[in-house]
Amino acid sequence: MSPPMSQQTLQIEAVVLAAGRGTRMRSNLHKVLHPVAGKPMLHWVLDRAAELGAKRTHVVVGHQAETVKAATPHAVEWVLQEEQLGTGHAVLQALPGVDDDSIVLVLYGDVPMASFELLDECTRAAADGSVALVTADFQDPAQLGRIVRAEQPDGNGDILSIVEFADATDAEKAICEINSGIMAVGAKRLRHMLTELSKVPPENNNGEYYLTTVIEDAVRDGITVRGIRAAREEEVTGVNDRIQLAQLERAVQRQLAEGLMRDGVTLADPARLDIRGAVSVGSDSFIDANVVLEGEVSLGASVQVGSGCVIRDSRIGDGVTVHPNTLIDGADIAANASVGPFARIRPGTQLAEGVKIGNFVETKKTTMGKDSKASHLTYLGDATVGADCNIGAGTVTCNYDGVNKHRTDIGDDVFVGTNSTLVAPISLGNGSFVAAGSTLTSDLGEQDLGVGRGKQRNIKGWTRPDRRRK
Ligand code: UD1
Ligand code: CA
Repeated sequence: MSPPMSQQTLQIEAVVLAAGRGTRMRSNLHKVLHPVAGKPMLHWVLDRAAELGAKRTHVVVGHQAETVKAATPHAVEWVLQEEQLGTGHAVLQALPGVDDDSIVLVLYGDVPMASFELLDECTRAAADGSVALVTADFQDPAQLGRIVRAEQPDGNGDILSIVEFADATDAEKAICEINSGIMAVGAKRLRHMLTELSKVPPENNNGEYYLTTVIEDAVRDGITVRGIRAAREEEVTGVNDRIQLAQLERAVQRQLAEGLMRDGVTLADPARLDIRGAVSVGSDSFIDANVVLEGEVSLGASVQVGSGCVIRDSRIGDGVTVHPNTLIDGADIAANASVGPFARIRPGTQLAEGVKIGNFVETKKTTMGKDSKASHLTYLGDATVGADCNIGAGTVTCNYDGVNKHRTDIGDDVFVGTNSTLVAPISLGNGSFVAAGSTLTSDLGEQDLGVGRGKQRNIKGWTRPDRRRK
């Protein structure tokens, strides 16, 4: 007995259309490279095709082909469409590289957010030789292609054709079921249909070879057309201009925020959090308004993030507090540390448990041991700080001599007084103490006191300049 259809593995080849000019974006950046949730639209589509196990993914490029290729690290077959003669013509360009027994899944570079489940359902629906088409009911179908069905009271009559907005009658424009553009068809059949299409000059108002024409051709030839309705609009929302881009971004952000809330995270306002990457947050964490999380970010449980923070490519342990307006980039911050407000934590920073970084402190390539503090106005660059240290306000590691960077090594239990400059390379031994206002240029031994400043001189009975006495 053969396994049920849902368990058979299909040979899928994805054809992704990305040759168009995208005029309505009014951008020098190619449309499919504009990001949604931090990732170029085209890359969302290619990642999804890979997830579906596509044997090959063919990307049809034309306008700015070289830029699109250079920006895309994915392993794909690039197909050049010299002239953009329409979506049907574009798909046809890719077919010479497609096996006859594959199911072709047509995806659009400007329709980036289709889910795995939706595309999986679409390809499976084409397994029996049908043409499968993803549609959706839109509140505002705007200028999208409309799905024309046979009259039936429940609105679920057979699909007869797709009519483009530019070619639609008023009655057709009133239809709210739209063509997502996403379609699955057996390669052999699609090759035949598109070859036929290309033989006759197009009759529509744009003079383009429309992929959508294959639907009416299939109906005419008695081939089943299966419509798969997407559950959520944003899955099939296409981006033609920056207004649609912003709308899609908000819809995707809403989903990501809801995912975090379902994981037990409290968001002050789900509409004022932006996630641009792969983010995980532990339960009972709280994220205040206007926070941006970018790249690979993991926040532990019971983490507090104040408003106005940007956290990029960092790992933050349980119970950490990030006070408002703090920027954290490329850092590892262990449990119960506290950072900010107004701190800048740069790449290569590693803060151990209980470390406290206060306002106007910048760290770069710096490790701080357990419970050490730098509470105010400090720069620590290329430094190692041991445990239980106190770095006073205004401390600066002078790590750069104009040519090279040098390290500062600070042991455990060191006290650095206020307004000290530590000229690297330099090391301060365990338990040492730097007098406030010092400039240290040589190493300080364990338990030693370093004083590197001009001695105070008091002048008795000095007459200060006084305007009033003139
Ligand atoms: C297309 C559909 C429409 C559907 C909508 C969904 C057609 C004729 N129309 O309209 O029914 O509702 O998408 O978003 O298919 N492209 C090429 N080469 C070309 C032309 C286009 O690669 O010669 C690419 C574009 O870069 C784009 C995609 O195909 O990624 C769709 O083209 P676009 O011009 O945006 O079509 P729509 O007007 O949005
Ligand atoms: Ca489009």
